[in-house]
Amino acid sequence: MGKEELMKKLAEKIRSCRKCPLGELRTNTVPGAGSYEAKVMFVGEAPGYWEDQKGLPFVGRAGKVLDELLAEIGLKREDVYITNIIKCRPPDNRDPTEDEIKACSPYLDRQIDIIKPKVIVPLGRHSMRYILEKFGFDTEPISKIHGKTFEAHTLFGKIVIMPMYHPAVALYRPTLREELMKDFHKLKTLIGESL
Ligand code: URA
Repeated sequence: MGKEELMKKLAEKIRSCRKCPLGELRTNTVPGAGSYEAKVMFVGEAPGYWEDQKGLPFVGRAGKVLDELLAEIGLKREDVYITNIIKCRPPDNRDPTEDEIKACSPYLDRQIDIIKPKVIVPLGRHSMRYILEKFGFDTEPISKIHGKTFEAHTLFGKIVIMPMYHPAVALYRPTLREELMKDFHKLKTLIGESL
């Protein structure tokens, strides 16, 4: 089975998921979007209001920032894959709970196995923690390790992990927007060097 078929089957599974109480509260699941052949995968936290309405990741205000950052390094959404750790919106956009992450993260694990990205960019501390722990790294404060690279070795080859601040922080903290911009330029260099 090709990547497209596998990803479509997985999205169907996610759409009918009732593994945690968020399944009862959502309008739509938000499995992810972008190229199944992407070399770069962005992993956010969880859908917000607009994502829940539309069934697509990062389509609200934080998504606009993400689009600007991608454009800054000459990328479009169609060039990458964008998803979240949690596929349903937590009420009032609260942080996902440990139980929700435990129930939902196997979908993200499967997406990584199917797409086989060369670079994973966790956006924000929840995603950073999940991805770093998954690949056997210790977590540190995001202020300390954003823009740094971690090399993970998987059955399908090397993955470079580059955690970054969540684009939503750029909405209210201009200095962090500058940090994000710098990190995106590091990502551009990394893509040029290693892909
Ligand atoms: N914030 C996220 O972490 N993910 C989205 O899809 C939207 C906002």
